[in-house]
Amino acid sequence: MLTNIEHIGIAIHNLDEANALYSKILGISPYKQEAVESEHVITSFFKINETKIELLQATDSTSAIAKFIEKKGEGVHHIAFATDDLTAEIKRLTSEGFEVLKGFPKQGADNKMVAFLHPKGTAGVLVELCMEIKS
Ligand code: CO
Repeated sequence: MLTNIEHIGIAIHNLDEANALYSKILGISPYKQEAVESEHVITSFFKINETKIELLQATDSTSAIAKFIEKKGEGVHHIAFATDDLTAEIKRLTSEGFEVLKGFPKQGADNKMVAFLHPKGTAGVLVELCMEIKS
């Protein structure tokens, strides 16, 4: 089961500038900045109640974020839904015909296991499924 929108991912050019911008919009500072080396991104997170905003900056031109910005410019990149059972949700959604992006699930930012549904099957929205890693 998917439980809630965990975060909205936004592709941005420059993390320092975007941090300043979103601090102004949201009235709070980011609580975390984290590099995800496997994805060639650096991220920062804001939290309002249970909803987070994830800002993503590419660290090199091979990053999916760099390619996204090249094609579409800055903007909303993905919507992430939380689940308590990522394996079960992947199984449910693949049995419904959705395609999980290659190489996932794997560890993502903010202590999560993550997987993405291919946007060609989701009306153009990159859907992330994420599950808190319990230590
Ligand atoms: Co995300």
